[in-house]
Amino acid sequence: MDIEVGRMYTLRELASGFSVSERTLTRKLELGELRGYKVGNQWRVRGREWLEYTGALSGPRVFVVANAKGGAGKSTFTTNLAVLRAREGKRVLLIDLDPQGHLATLLNMPVDPDRTTVQLLNEELRLPRTVPGHRDRWHTLWTDLLQSVPGAEEHEALSRVFLVPAHNDLADLERANFHRSKPIEYALREAIEALTLVNPDIDEIWIDTPPNLGSLTRNALMAAHYVVSPFAKSDLGLDGLERLMVLVEQYLEFNPYLRVAGLVMNYGNPRTIMHNEIRETIKGRASLSPYLLESYVSEAERFNQAPRLGVPLVLAEPNSTSAQELRRVLKEMDACVE
Ligand SMILES: Nc1ncnc2c1ncn2[C@@H]1O[C@H](COP(=O)(O)OP(=O)(O)OP(=O)(O)O)[C@@H](O)[C@H]1O
Ligand SMILES: [Mg+2]
Repeated sequence: MDIEVGRMYTLRELASGFSVSERTLTRKLELGELRGYKVGNQWRVRGREWLEYTGALSGPRVFVVANAKGGAGKSTFTTNLAVLRAREGKRVLLIDLDPQGHLATLLNMPVDPDRTTVQLLNEELRLPRTVPGHRDRWHTLWTDLLQSVPGAEEHEALSRVFLVPAHNDLADLERANFHRSKPIEYALREAIEALTLVNPDIDEIWIDTPPNLGSLTRNALMAAHYVVSPFAKSDLGLDGLERLMVLVEQYLEFNPYLRVAGLVMNYGNPRTIMHNEIRETIKGRASLSPYLLESYVSEAERFNQAPRLGVPLVLAEPNSTSAQELRRVLKEMDACVE
């Protein structure tokens, strides 16, 4: 029996297709060993969850870097943390959902306006699963959009980094398409599910988002497993983080895999009052305190040189304090999510 990741299956279908009893499946569902949804008193299991349960699908882990505040360090964290993963040997795909397109700048990659997240999300390109050729179409699209980043000759890790860059037109797409009545917030999730079918070699996906909680960020929350949120030590109001946490809570209903992997202070400096004040404020807020990481990234002028270096700081200056701090952040984050 062929399983489609996005389809819902009844227990009867799965039981007859895989020669197991419905009773056994019900027990696994009740124990939480298999994930499912109850419609009335009938269980339904999504294809993806069945494939994960049977071990047939071990799709990429998806991280979204978000904060409604501008300049918090989202693009800096996305590129550096993803590249650290590539240094560990993982194959990593970066997806830029911010129309500003900073990931391409930070990775020194020229942008072809016909090969960006605009094409990935464009509704016109999305075919209903039932249309013949749906899989071939996705294959062609992903093969075209998934681009290698330059610099692999000097930094071997970059041979495992791929990017779907953003283009300014993404802002138009958001305005034009994303306000229709269709559940357009599933666009990225569908695209990533299709990637699993056509290119199963990607281990992790890192998504950069714009400084707002509009439909592009919501698309990312619908598709992600983990949210990472850098915040500036000067962001004393913390309203960007709090609004993000409220949204994450709401999105759990649609995306039960979503977890907060960490709130990370950026521009830190423990010798300043502000640094300590903001940490205390977070610790005092129930919606934020469980996710605050001990590790932080200090304010450092070298980050401003990063675009000129052409490769992320963790490769350009791997022994710098900043690179060490970023490695520590990733390690602590992993301990929280495993
Ligand atoms: N720890 C740091 N110390 C000094 N400068 C930093 C630090 N982190 C980031 N920067 C710099 O601050 C600027 C903003 O960072 P970045 O672009 O990563 O933020 P962002 O959250 O993605 O911004 P936006 O909301 O506009 O997308 C960049 O010029 C970056 O180089
Ligand atoms: Mg950015």
